[in-house]
Amino acid sequence: MKVICYISSFANNLNKDDINSLIKSVNLYNKEKNITGVLIIRNKSFFQILEGNIIDIDTLYAKIIEDKRHIGLLKISENEIEDRIFNSYNSGEFDTIDNYSSSKKLLKYFNWIRNADHPVIEEIITLTKNYILHNK
Ligand SMILES: Cc1cc2nc3c(=O)[nH]c(=O)nc-3n(C[C@H](O)[C@H](O)[C@H](O)COP(=O)(O)O)c2cc1C
Repeated sequence: MKVICYISSFANNLNKDDINSLIKSVNLYNKEKNITGVLIIRNKSFFQILEGNIIDIDTLYAKIIEDKRHIGLLKISENEIEDRIFNSYNSGEFDTIDNYSSSKKLLKYFNWIRNADHPVIEEIITLTKNYILHNK
């Protein structure tokens, strides 16, 4: 298993409809492929955590890099993991968050999962919290 975390910015021409159809396809595909994590959309930027089988994540991330709907993609963390961090978040389903109040559910989950003995949790929590708090 592995987990990748990156940030990027909206491409210039991206409108509300584009975002809505992106959210729909992301949630659907990730459910099919058993990819867990979150996509947080705030202030015309994306923050995504993708977690799953190594091959699935590498294949997906290669597609995401090439996607014209965003620019300035920067990978901020990549780690191999024994167990999923997001298995028990949102009933194990991939979640997309596009406002500050719904990010509170994620922060609450982090407070709970922090107690698990999981080497990369602290790093993921710090990165995500920084993004959420800077994009209130
Ligand atoms: C910010 C961003 C995040 C994305 N996240 C995912 C994702 O989590 N899962 C996914 O299947 N596609 C995601 N996509 C879309 C992929 O880049 C790609 O369009 C999609 O996997 C379909 O690829 P295909 O047409 O080659 O099957 C994302 C795109 C963007 C711009």
